Amino acid sequence: MTTRTYNFSAGPATLPLSVLEKAQAELLSLPGVGASVLEISHRSPAFVEIAQAAEANLRELLSISDDYAVLFLQGGSRLQFSMVPMNLLGEHANSADYILTGSWGKNAAKEAAKEGDICIAWDGGSTNYDRLPADGDLDLNSDAGYVHFTSNETIQGVQFAAEPNTGSVPLVCDASSDFMHRPLDVSKYGMIYACAQKNAGPAGLTVVVMRKDLLELSSDDLPGYLNYKVHAENDSMWNTPPTFAIYMLKLVTDWLKDEIGGLEKMHELNKQKAALLYKVLDDNPDFYQGHAKPEVRSLMNVTFRLPDDELTAKFLAAAKEQRLTDLKGHRSVGGIRASIYNAMPMAGVEALRDFMVDFVGRH
Ligand SMILES: Cc1ncc(COP(=O)(O)O)c(C=O)c1O
Repeated sequence: MTTRTYNFSAGPATLPLSVLEKAQAELLSLPGVGASVLEISHRSPAFVEIAQAAEANLRELLSISDDYAVLFLQGGSRLQFSMVPMNLLGEHANSADYILTGSWGKNAAKEAAKEGDICIAWDGGSTNYDRLPADGDLDLNSDAGYVHFTSNETIQGVQFAAEPNTGSVPLVCDASSDFMHRPLDVSKYGMIYACAQKNAGPAGLTVVVMRKDLLELSSDDLPGYLNYKVHAENDSMWNTPPTFAIYMLKLVTDWLKDEIGGLEKMHELNKQKAALLYKVLDDNPDFYQGHAKPEVRSLMNVTFRLPDDELTAKFLAAAKEQRLTDLKGHRSVGGIRASIYNAMPMAGVEALRDFMVDFVGRH
């Protein structure tokens, strides 16, 4: 434990220490089972209980009603980029609207365009995705099958504080990098998907929350794995699900409920953590230049640049010496990215804040 760093990786990302310790303690044998979760059938009572508890935790934390199915899939969010149009476009709707607020929204639209007609409702590319649209800026089609948006752009560090209003057209959200960071009014969404490896567990699991009436749109001609309805009808066990990742999701959601005290509390903590770092940017605007416009700053990924590449390299090396790791920004934005998901403790953010203040003083 003493050799752990504060790891600011964008994903796979840091997990709560108590979750890792619990998984470690149970790795040789789940209590009363005599084997590890890695070794038992996904249809065994012990695992079915874990999967049901994980789903129940999600439903409780996000107040997900019975009108929605919760699916545990594989293939990452990238597979959702294709599955969403494969399932939701067809005879009833030929096209979908995409809101492009950063790299991931663009990637989603690129994949979707292979499956159907895609209209771009808004594109922030001209300012390198440093801002978000207001509802009035969106060019929406009332007959679109759905509107897709990315609630938090992991690379650029811009985040919607509230979902766009799309009227009666189903809203589809890639929530990969801010899933469960705050309470959500799920009833405003047709579908939410999130790969687990940022805020919900390890890589290998993608959670899909989908309005049940939309499941009826999936064509029987789709390959089974790519058909949401097949997964829903089989309780996400049409094929062998990612059992260990689902077990970890269960532990992470237990932690959110029992140690954090729910998503309202988590949101408060996330706001406090992000505010510590953004204050350093605001106090030193000539040294640290934030990428996102202040009003759309992400609570999850804090992105900023230093005056030059040499200082950036020095910053990364000196941070590593202080056990603050994985801070390099994505090449399309440059500079630094501090990912401070739910599991990043306040002490880690305070350590980074202190380091940043000290670094400006020295340079
Ligand atoms: C917002 C967002 N969407 C999609 C992805 C792609 O997820 P995956 O690598 O699980 O396919 C990522 C992360 O890598 C992401 O941050």
